[in-house]
Amino acid sequence: MRVAVFSAKPFERERLERANAGAGHELVFLDASLDSETARAAEGARGACIFANDDASAPALERLHEAGVRVLALRSAGFNHVDLHAAERLGVAVLRVPAYSPHAVAEHTVALMLALNRKIHRAYQRVREQNFALHGLMGFDMRAKTVGVVGTGRIGAVVCRILQGFECEVLAHDPQPDPDLRAAGVSYTDLGNLLERSHIVTLHCPLTPTTRHLIDAAALDRMRDGAMLINTSRGAVVDTGALIGALKRRRLGALGLDVYEEEADLFFRDLSDQILDDDVFARLLTFPNVLITAHQAFFTSEALDAIAQTTIENLSDFERGCSREANRVTTDLVVGEDPRTGTAGGVPFTQEQ
Ligand code: NAI
Repeated sequence: MRVAVFSAKPFERERLERANAGAGHELVFLDASLDSETARAAEGARGACIFANDDASAPALERLHEAGVRVLALRSAGFNHVDLHAAERLGVAVLRVPAYSPHAVAEHTVALMLALNRKIHRAYQRVREQNFALHGLMGFDMRAKTVGVVGTGRIGAVVCRILQGFECEVLAHDPQPDPDLRAAGVSYTDLGNLLERSHIVTLHCPLTPTTRHLIDAAALDRMRDGAMLINTSRGAVVDTGALIGALKRRRLGALGLDVYEEEADLFFRDLSDQILDDDVFARLLTFPNVLITAHQAFFTSEALDAIAQTTIENLSDFERGCSREANRVTTDLVVGEDPRTGTAGGVPFTQEQ
């Protein structure tokens, strides 16, 4: 099958080619990300393959369909960037990689916690300037601290286990508690109690209409004074404006982000010689206690290999007419959608990665 691969980064091309060796699809790599304009580049392809920040809204899907595309293979678990109603209406199958490496994201999450706690980002700069002073770099022992994990699915569960290795007290909140974690000593509680008790709160729930701005000004006010917040799930799970307010009031002690509400205009590209238009993001960068990475938590060799492998398998399964149920994305997966608009608060309606 001919497949237009949008947003194809060099590190992915090689892996997709390798995974495709036995499958024999014709992969056409495109630098451009998908939108309603670039969709035309898929002319003559039966498949389109996209990444997390491509725009698979209705107009883009309509152009893809006109170009001949009948399957959309996501190189991600998340599908918040796909208009599933439009895909169903057009008869375009949507397939994803539901799990590739929860360890990749969990380990990056803990890396952010440790870096912020021990001020590694500041220490690195200081030592390079031959400033060997220690003031301002004091951290705390992780041992015996309370960490609240919001969402204990694949990634959150790994985070819980890593933190138990640090001898942290792990609290969790999830509408579907994991009995194995409970047996291992993780205490499930409601979100308010978790926020009030935790020294560190880390977010691992999907973005859905119900989790959009789950952490808003009121939630931040419930957190312990000086607590740390980590978000490696999806940007819109937190209200960025409220974060800035809590940082300015010195309520939030440290903030680690791998995702950002408006990241689609920024992440995955080199903008180092450009003027930053996003004043909210620019303000976040001014805080010494904020550490931001550009959606790289998934970015390990193992995870990329797994994404490439499953993506090629998804394309082959589609061609054979036997797509795996777990990898198919349909509107049935959307929880809490506003039936009138298909959206939640103006954002695309679907669950994320
Ligand atoms: P998962 O589907 O295995 O687990 C999500 C968990 O969140 C489930 O247990 C679910 O019951 C729970 N949940 C749903 N609503 C909740 C709520 N209101 N409060 C608390 N928990 C809730 O998903 P997985 O694989 O663990 O991924 C978690 C999130 O990590 C994804 O949704 C995605 O947004 C993010 N992610 C980020 C990546 C990155 O590179 N930064 C890469 C991959 C995923």
